[in-house]
Amino acid sequence: MPLPIILDCDPGTDDALALFLALASPELEVLAITVAGGNVGLEMTLPNALALTALTGSKVPVYAGADRPLLGAFTSETRVHGNDGLGGIALPPGGPPCPEHAADAIRRIVRASERPVTLVGIAPVTNIALALMTEPAIAANVERIVLMSGAWGEGNATPAAEFNAVSDPEALAVVLGCGRPVVMATLEIAAQALCTPAHLAAMRASGSGRCLQAACDIQNSVPFSRRLGGMGAALYDPCAVAWLIRPELFTTQAASVTMDLGPGPCRGRTVIDRWGRTGAPANAMVLETIDAGGLFTLLTGRFNRLP
Ligand code: BDR
Ligand code: CA
Repeated sequence: MPLPIILDCDPGTDDALALFLALASPELEVLAITVAGGNVGLEMTLPNALALTALTGSKVPVYAGADRPLLGAFTSETRVHGNDGLGGIALPPGGPPCPEHAADAIRRIVRASERPVTLVGIAPVTNIALALMTEPAIAANVERIVLMSGAWGEGNATPAAEFNAVSDPEALAVVLGCGRPVVMATLEIAAQALCTPAHLAAMRASGSGRCLQAACDIQNSVPFSRRLGGMGAALYDPCAVAWLIRPELFTTQAASVTMDLGPGPCRGRTVIDRWGRTGAPANAMVLETIDAGGLFTLLTGRFNRLP
């Protein structure tokens, strides 16, 4: 039986690859794609999600959600994802979004599902937090929440914080405190899975499908990060989806994770107690290592299943 999931995203270059991976994988039944503002504004992430979904031929419903965090101002990340969120790679437009708000859709779908639903968050988790805050009882029918979020070391958006976490720290605190198991793919996991020019060339040469080629074009637009040694671009969001499909590619560590919600320079920092120093009970499972070769094999194989 495929695992029922809702994918909450903000495409986003790496979101695009994660979305393709989810829709190409028979292990997963994607019940809905919900969209937030994040890497770029919702006015771009929503059409991007619709276009990416349509390119796969999938009829999965897509819902627009939050265009800003629970508190504070919206900030984008156009340096990595371009002004349009997909590195300037134009795709044919997708269909219309469903009229319901993403948080309402999450609540309705989780409430009605015969099997517990896994929530996959690869964006600021405002939509997931809104759903949990407005109807806490749905948590009982949430299997787990799998996130690309946070870091145990330095951040990428600020010295202290990762982009998704700092983009809505209060929402992440709600999700971490909801009582359901949380799995976190952090910056450190993504740093172990850099997509190099050689990886990209091999992926591109592996097939001619429009989704595979779009994935390569989009990934090729991502600037190499100085923070990661300038060797390649990190595949952040695909790591979270890959854990659901091939958990054996990862090692994990249970840990207590708390949020720095203060107004200072550490705002949005995920304080991850990997060594049990605080004595606080674990509320998350942190992905610690990844078999990068296995990830690229998985991505290449799955993208080749798409049109
Ligand atoms: C995360 O932030 C976004 O820029 C990416 O899409 C990913 O979800 C990495 O910090
Ligand atoms: Ca993302």
